Amino acid sequence: MIEIIKLRHSVRCFTDKPLESETVRLLQQEIKKCNKESGLHIQLITNEPEAFQAEKPSYGQFKGCRNYLIIIGTKGKDTEAGYYGERIVLKAQELGINSCWVALTYKKNKAKGIIDPGEKLYLVIALGYGKTNGSAHKSKSITDVSDYKTDDPDWYKSGIEAALLAPTAVNQQKFRFERNGEKVRLRITGIGFYTKIDLGIVKYHFEIGSRKDGSVWY
Ligand SMILES: Cc1cc2nc3c(=O)[nH]c(=O)nc-3n(C[C@H](O)[C@H](O)[C@H](O)COP(=O)(O)O)c2cc1C
Repeated sequence: MIEIIKLRHSVRCFTDKPLESETVRLLQQEIKKCNKESGLHIQLITNEPEAFQAEKPSYGQFKGCRNYLIIIGTKGKDTEAGYYGERIVLKAQELGINSCWVALTYKKNKAKGIIDPGEKLYLVIALGYGKTNGSAHKSKSITDVSDYKTDDPDWYKSGIEAALLAPTAVNQQKFRFERNGEKVRLRITGIGFYTKIDLGIVKYHFEIGSRKDGSVWY
């Protein structure tokens, strides 16, 4: 899983190749598990070009995106949306599918998916076979985002390293880890865009990197 984390970068240009049926089946399986655990209503939309049809060149322009995850759920589930969305992103990466989290640069009114009463659309995640695999983002250092000291346990260091590879909105990395024995606190620092979603994504990465489960948090 750590290798998968290292391979994942945001990809915004996709080839015409449709998702293979076995890939779709495995993604649907993961989505079902995530929805069951979280109560979210994440859906996979395939062969639908309208949500990402380009009009004019701008930041975050997408090319050839016809598949996406639509992250839907009741209010107040931002952190779960990040956590479970990233779980599906990494499953997709494992299956050779590139991705990009997208909160702003898509056509919200064209996006398909069922929003039940009491639910809202959080954001979408573009999916497909990328023209490239993207590239590593500029990153803060371990000490920028944590209280890490050189004699701290290895699991803490590897958790933060995995967290620094996580996608965050505009690559803001506005989070901080603090350790108290076997327990870790993760919080948002300052004001930013979609920081609660980022928090969930970063949590998932930390759990993988540190090989800990949800009981690590306090
Ligand atoms: C919550 C969230 C929202 C994002 N929204 C957009 C977006 O609207 N348009 C876009 O092109 N990229 C968007 N991104 C992608 C980030 O710009 C990207 O993850 C970040 O620059 C780090 O690069 P990486 O994913 O390649 O590691 C978003 C990422 C996250 C986590």
